[in-house]
Formats: sequence, structure tokens, C-alpha cells
Amino acid sequence: MTLEDTYQRRTAANTAPLHQCRSGRLEGKVCLVTGAGSGIGQATARLFAREGATLAVADVDDSGAQATVAAISDAGGTAIREHLDVADEEQTIAAVASVVARFSRIDVLFNNAGISGVGDVVETAPELFDRVMAVNVRGVYLMCRAVVPTMIEQRSGAIINMSSSLAAIGVARRVSYAASKGAVLAMTRCMQVDLAPYGVRVNALLPGTILSPFVERYLAESYSDREEGLESIRRRQLTHDLGRPEDVAYAALYLASDEARFVMASGLVVDGGMTGAK
Ligand SMILES: NC(=O)c1ccc[n+]([C@@H]2O[C@H](COP(=O)([O-])OP(=O)(O)OC[C@H]3O[C@@H](n4cnc5c(N)ncnc54)[C@H](O)[C@@H]3O)[C@@H](O)[C@H]2O)c1
Repeated sequence: MTLEDTYQRRTAANTAPLHQCRSGRLEGKVCLVTGAGSGIGQATARLFAREGATLAVADVDDSGAQATVAAISDAGGTAIREHLDVADEEQTIAAVASVVARFSRIDVLFNNAGISGVGDVVETAPELFDRVMAVNVRGVYLMCRAVVPTMIEQRSGAIINMSSSLAAIGVARRVSYAASKGAVLAMTRCMQVDLAPYGVRVNALLPGTILSPFVERYLAESYSDREEGLESIRRRQLTHDLGRPEDVAYAALYLASDEARFVMASGLVVDGGMTGAK
């Protein structure tokens, strides 16, 4: 079976009505996913709902978030939409308060929202560097700061922070982005030390190149020919296809579930061999 066959099978399962395929790995859990209006966040929100979770779908893009909520509702799941810019402290506090008011708890926070930054150190304007750090790093910090008191009170919780394989290896012209994802991994490890006594797990995901609107924009910015760009990405991996949002969603599901109760301060690599096998 090729990677593409696996993807088609998983996608079909992820869109099937809940009663046909629900296995309940997140039954009863309230999960807040940022950047859930597109790509990896959307696939994860849908998968979490299929596994029995109640979803808070948070995104700065309201129409994307609404599409995710509609997909979950159509499949028989429960989801609400929260407008959220993760870089805005007031909005992070308001979104978390709204979810807690509605569901009385937050079991899983998936800090997935993020933006790209393309350029070497000279090409990268200070404004771009600051913006990438504001969303990708400050956004994770602000969301954790807003959610953690609830998890401490509950004496339980799972936080998943979106890092990247670029926290571990160097790739051309990704200076601001790599800096932000390295910071997320380092922050994850330190937060875990502080939060372990309260039963809160904190882990990071390190995906390789995942075909999503994010990567389509990166390809358009970085290569004059899309196919040439895809080919150079494939050469970095051991697989002939790029990753799909569902590949990362399944890893997030594991970290969010109680199956991962002994997994703490880790960076789970999901990258088709890009980091480990070269
Ligand atoms: N696609 C990849 O190859 C890849 C690889 C490694 C890591 N990542 C990371 O995974 C995450 C999701 O990426 P994706 O590929 O699904 O991208 P995407 O662009 O498809 O989705 C990102 C979502 O985040 C939202 N968002 C952006 N800024 C926001 C903000 N300030 N507040 C709230 N929401 C905001 C967007 O509206 C969008 O819905 C990002 O953090 C990205 O850095 C992606």
C-alpha cells in the first residue's frame, strides 16, 4: 500500500459519520485547537471530534473555523467556534474564558496556529521576524498562560505545542521560522518541568513538510516552478510523497489521549525520515 492509499483510507474514515467509526480515545474531553480553520488544525479538530472530544475551534480566520465546525457537526460531533488571534493577549484570555464558561473545563490545548517566514538572515526584515515570533512563540506562551490555571485547578491536562523539524535541522532561508519553532520546543520542555506536579503534560510536535495551504504558500514564495519545489522537498525525505495533515493529526491524537500518560517534554517527529535518517 502506498502512502497515498493510506491517506485516502484515513481521509475517508475521517469524514465518515461518527457512529460508523468512533473509537472514543478522547471521550469526554474538551479540546481547544488553535489555527483549526485550515490544514493540520482542521484535520486534528475533526479527528479529535471523531474520537469523542468536544471541540473549541479557534482561528483568526472565521470562515475557515466555521467550515471546521460545520464539518464536525455534520458528522455528528460537538464543536463551537472561537474568534482568536493568538498574538493578542486579551483575545487569548477571552477565548479561554468563553470555553470554560461553556464546558467548565479544558482537557487538551493544541497550540497549532502558526505562520511561515521565508528568507535568509539579510532578506528577513525585522518586521517579518517580529511577526513570526509574535504568532508562533508569543501566541503559544499567551495561550498556555490563559489555559494553565484551569488545568492546574483540574489537576490534569495535555498541552501540545506545534514546533517543526526545523527546530532540529537547518534548511535554507527559514531563519525567522526556525528561530520560532526552536523556541517553542525549548519552551515546551521548561513548561513541562513546572507543570508536571499538577498532572499536566506538555509535548511538542515536529512535523516535516506537510501538504497544506501553508506549504502551498511557501512553494509559491520560494520556487518559480511548483513541481521543482515539490521535488526538492521530496529529496529531503525517505518517502516519495509529502506528509498530509492527517499524518500529524494522528500524532496529536496520541499525545492528547491518556495513552500518552508517560510522555512528557518530548518532541514527536513526524517527518517521513527527514530528520532521523540522513
Ligand atoms: N505544513 C507544514 O509543512 C508544517 C510543518 C511543520 C510545522 N507546521 C506548523 O503547523 C501549524 C499549522 O500549519 P498548517 O500547515 O496547517 O498551516 P495553515 O496555514 O493551513 O493553517 C494555519 C492556521 O492558523 C491560523 N492562524 C494564523 N495566524 C493566526 C493567529 N495569529 N491566531 C489564530 N490563528 C492563526 C490560520 O488562519 C490558519 O487557519 C503551524 O504552526 C505550522 O508552523 C506546518
